Amino acid sequence: MKAALARAVLMAGVLTAASLGAVSANAAPAPDGPKTRIVGGELAKTADAPWAIALNNSGSPSPSGQYCGSTLVAANKIVTAAHCATEAASTYTAIQGRDKLTDTGGKTSKITSIWADPEYGKSPGHDVAVMTLATPFEGVPTLALETSTAADTAGAASVVYGWGATEGTGPADTFQKVAAPVLGDAYCSDVYASQNYSAAGEICAGYKEGGKDSCQGDSGGPLVLNGRLFGVVSWGIGCADAGNPGVYAEVATYAAALQAQIDS
Ligand code: ARG
Repeated sequence: MKAALARAVLMAGVLTAASLGAVSANAAPAPDGPKTRIVGGELAKTADAPWAIALNNSGSPSPSGQYCGSTLVAANKIVTAAHCATEAASTYTAIQGRDKLTDTGGKTSKITSIWADPEYGKSPGHDVAVMTLATPFEGVPTLALETSTAADTAGAASVVYGWGATEGTGPADTFQKVAAPVLGDAYCSDVYASQNYSAAGEICAGYKEGGKDSCQGDSGGPLVLNGRLFGVVSWGIGCADAGNPGVYAEVATYAAALQAQIDS
């Protein structure tokens, strides 16, 4: 399989496994059965991570509409993954301050426009997008972009957040977080050589032994380091499986392009 196609298949879980708890079609079957949200994490509160924004879509098979994650980077701008940004703007709803997506409450906004990195799908990496909110989330704390690629250093203690699949390790459609230490580009360049891992544009984070990871439906959401948006949940093979850690878009690599969109 060509690398670009393989990567597209890895990401195809967004509308299916994301909300149904199914094992993604691409993944090797997990030895211990289906696993699907942040896997191996803990309950989190959007009150403590107010910049974490759920990105629902009307085409999601989930009754809650759960689709992807995103991060508030300005009152009217969210950063998400390019592979989460392929639908019409009118089909998305951004939700702030809602821990359980089957509840109501919090702030919501429709999306008026979408910029996705035009290189996404043409070359490895580039899984970043910026969406503009119809109703800005005024007064909500934002995250700054990480601008230094030196932050992508093995051992850095980053944390990932999302409402995605838990593979039975937590409640569905519920905000969770898990520590995802940086493993370093050398490790993912090795284990994901045939998936075209991009050392320049991606972050390899999680655990070589598996057990804790982001998962389907977490895509687009924040990987946070030092109070900045360090990475964007992008892809993996399965979730939390040994030797297949999470891959995140490296925000610093794309910070200038993202900031230009945020400022526009
Ligand atoms: N592509 C998935 C999504 O669309 C995210 C997969 C993350 N996988 C992982 N093992 N960390 O939601």
